[in-house]
Amino acid sequence: MPLEGPFKVCCVGAGYVGGPTMAVMAKFCPGVRVCVVDLSQPRVDAWNSSKLPIYEPGLQSIVEHARGKNLFFSTEVEKEIEAADMVFISVDTPTKTHGVGSGSASNVKNLEAVARTIARCASSSTIVVEKSTVPVQTADALQKILAANSLDRPDVEFQVLSNPEFLAEGTAVRDLLSPSRVLIGGPESEAGEAAIAKLVALYAQWVPREKILTTNVWSSELSKLVANAYLAQRISSINSIAMLCEATKANVDEVSRAVGADTRIGPHFLRASVGFGGSCFRKDVLNLVYLSESFGLPEVAQYWRQVVTMNEWQKERFARRMINVMFNTVTGKKITFFGFAFKKDTGDVRETAAAYVAKYLLDERATISIYDPQVQTEDLWREFASTLGITEESHPNLKNVVTLENDPYEAARDSHAIAVMTEWDEFKDYDYEKLFHSMQKPAFIFDGRNILDHQRCFELGFEVACIGKTLPSHFDQPSTQPSAAAGAKHKRKR
Ligand code: NAD
Ligand code: UGA
Repeated sequence: MPLEGPFKVCCVGAGYVGGPTMAVMAKFCPGVRVCVVDLSQPRVDAWNSSKLPIYEPGLQSIVEHARGKNLFFSTEVEKEIEAADMVFISVDTPTKTHGVGSGSASNVKNLEAVARTIARCASSSTIVVEKSTVPVQTADALQKILAANSLDRPDVEFQVLSNPEFLAEGTAVRDLLSPSRVLIGGPESEAGEAAIAKLVALYAQWVPREKILTTNVWSSELSKLVANAYLAQRISSINSIAMLCEATKANVDEVSRAVGADTRIGPHFLRASVGFGGSCFRKDVLNLVYLSESFGLPEVAQYWRQVVTMNEWQKERFARRMINVMFNTVTGKKITFFGFAFKKDTGDVRETAAAYVAKYLLDERATISIYDPQVQTEDLWREFASTLGITEESHPNLKNVVTLENDPYEAARDSHAIAVMTEWDEFKDYDYEKLFHSMQKPAFIFDGRNILDHQRCFELGFEVACIGKTLPSHFDQPSTQPSAAAGAKHKRKR
């Protein structure tokens, strides 16, 4: 269905989702004016600058391609909403931290605030698209808020669609250019179907039609939560098996390969790790748990809660293991984190496993030196404060015992251990012989991502521990002859 006239899209929320999705839409729909609005002036300024507010491979060139032509970033929320034919809502929906459902339900206050602004400002009938991840039946609430707040303009009608986003950070551009599917849920009415057709027409500019799925609104809202829950569940499942591998001398990477080769299971999301992070998995699984409880399904809730419980345990277990292997104390020891982002190719640290591990080590009075190619200092402190409640007030010495370095070799100098917390490719190519020489002995490596060459690190003299594999130790094998001189030095020291 062709879009009539000069079509105007407004997206409220210029975050990890709003910015990239609208940049790609603007690129492929040159006849559509796309404006991304946000309350945060610094965020909007960054989108309008040469240093975007988020690091995402390939994004800069896509933004620069369309910015100023048909892609705009602005804080003029009301003005842009008033002019728009279609408004995407892409604001954050974090886990509630107070009141009913605290700790599991999603907080949709920002979403509701945007709905009220739309109802107040829209000058003509508008399609409202939920892009944020929301509890099932949120569209119904939005529809009611929109209708109740526009009674003075009976000619203005709203159609609320659900269009959840499935991009992953670090691969957002690739995911948006060639999505596995685009999901659109809408009301089963004539006006609802017309609205769906308009949204389909936008996506059809670059997404093959057979990949654009249309459903009823509730299925669409629920599918988003279920997709994230399934992905998170696979990680918790393989991490639980990693524990069994360590107990039985099986190798979790081999088990993943063997199990994932079954086409019914598939190879994706079977990488054992220190634990999943990111702003969404924990939040969305807990949202599913809360919904199940609210609809009187405690067994369903319990089933999914275990996905999060297993992940909490994986992070704690990793830290405990570090302490245990390092002779049951890390007090006063310097630990180097390679990576702090929740995954590679992003600077995002929200819910990163690294922060949780850091907390356990700080409780034991370790000092932590971090190197990450993309993480910004202010984001690091914000995460410590918001997720873990660690601030300079609670830990007066905080900025002395946790430091973010610009160079990995500097970060590791004089440390007792390196902990690989993020799977950045560059960590595989470092000079581990040089690192070994600069560290305290025995020098430990804890590979929370199973990305290093463990045998080589062992031969250099490191004590190596990773996830779901039993590795040789110089302590267990007095006859082991580390090949490098460094290894011999290590043995002498002991
Ligand atoms: P974000 O925190 O990066 O961005 C949200 C933005 O919304 C912020 O810039 C904030 O200032 C703005 N905002 C909040 N309230 C506003 C208001 N009333 N008016 C104008 N602006 C307002 O969040 P995000 O990571 O982009 O996630 C957004 C939604 O998309 C969430 O529901 C999330 O679950 C979902 N999601 C996220 C990802 C991801 O990879 N981050 C992927 C898929 C879905
Ligand atoms: C995830 C989903 O993959 C997206 O489809 C979804 O849109 C998004 O959440 C969302 O709703 O926010 P994202 O969190 O950006 O995307 O990144 P993932 O690649 O899914 O990784 C999440 C976490 O799981 C990371 O900490 C990652 O290191 C970890 N992970 C992933 C593993 O530990 N093992 C794996 O095999 C895969």
